[in-house]
Amino acid sequence: MSTTFGRELGRAVAAAGSGAATPLRLVLLELLERRLETIAARAHPKATMLPFRPAYSVKTNPRPAFLRAARAAGFLAETISPAEVAAAREAGYPCGDIIYNGPRPCRRAELDAPLGAAFADSLEALALYLAERPAALVGVRLRPAAVPSRFGIPFDEVPDAAALMRAAEPGLTVGASMHVRSEDYRPRTWLELAGSFVDSAAALARESGRSLAVLDLGGGWTPASLERVLEHDVPALRLLLGSVLPGLTTVIVEPGQSVSTPCEALLCSVLEVRAGRGEAVVDAGFSELPHLETYPHRMYWAADGMLAPVERGAGRILGPLCLEYDVVARDVALPDGLAPGDRLVIADCGSYDASMAFPFAGGARHEVAPAGERHR
Ligand SMILES: Cc1ncc(COP(=O)(O)O)c(C=O)c1O
Repeated sequence: MSTTFGRELGRAVAAAGSGAATPLRLVLLELLERRLETIAARAHPKATMLPFRPAYSVKTNPRPAFLRAARAAGFLAETISPAEVAAAREAGYPCGDIIYNGPRPCRRAELDAPLGAAFADSLEALALYLAERPAALVGVRLRPAAVPSRFGIPFDEVPDAAALMRAAEPGLTVGASMHVRSEDYRPRTWLELAGSFVDSAAALARESGRSLAVLDLGGGWTPASLERVLEHDVPALRLLLGSVLPGLTTVIVEPGQSVSTPCEALLCSVLEVRAGRGEAVVDAGFSELPHLETYPHRMYWAADGMLAPVERGAGRILGPLCLEYDVVARDVALPDGLAPGDRLVIADCGSYDASMAFPFAGGARHEVAPAGERHR
């Protein structure tokens, strides 16, 4: 366990006390602040000799305290809906420090003032942004060649995007964005994808006759893979960018899960121990953590004021729902002495938790009456 993580997690469990109702979310704000500061320092132009500016992906964890911390650490806010723009504004972000980069088109009428940049996800959105100017800088998200993705425009639509940009008012500066998940491009590397993206961005600049002032880069990075990109890929990225895009003033890097994943945990209680099978049932699972199976989570047994890691083994920890897939952990060894009423901590729960992200994705949560009740 890293020192800040272990210390703050231990403190949060102790503060919850033995009587706290579970499941209970533990928010590790100090850890988040350290992570934001570290990433900002590692990506700083003095360290990288690239005009990097980090942006915090609001959808990943829109908790107001996280947004305020991101702003304090010098991150821009990267948003995908008017509700996320409003959340960033409430956290103190001026409109100029907010970027819009999502498939729901951004309408000027939904904003108090133009944002810093808006990246279109389609030719239709690009035409809309050039007409309405919801942001000072208008850009387009480009889909790197041969990546199966629903996002951005593919390479064969670049000439159409360039034509739209060419027809816009003189003096308009433009940008391009790339965001890919490693699941979609393996075994290629992020850097290879960035190479293909830079080629498309250069074609866009050439064919539109515009200078590309801003690039916005993301990569579905985990905490470890963001470290690797900042440590190993920066010199190659510098070469790639320097040779093709001379007018570049800003390279936005927009991490999400790599910032917030370790910064929340879930405290749960053991309901039953099935000793003969090496299984335990706990009071949290799929409902609280729908993304549980999409990335690894560290687990700890909170016993005698200590946090003992749950090790690998042949057992399972099961959630409380009547769903086959409500399994909290597979291939684990139940700690010796684990008993009903004990507390387990599921760590690394800070990203893409539907209960937090949903209200920000598109507006209000709607409910419909069950079919049988409609005509009452
Ligand atoms: C444009 C954009 N920015 C940021 C993010 C979030 O970043 P990460 O993939 O690092 O969690 C995503 C996620 O898909 C995205 O599409």
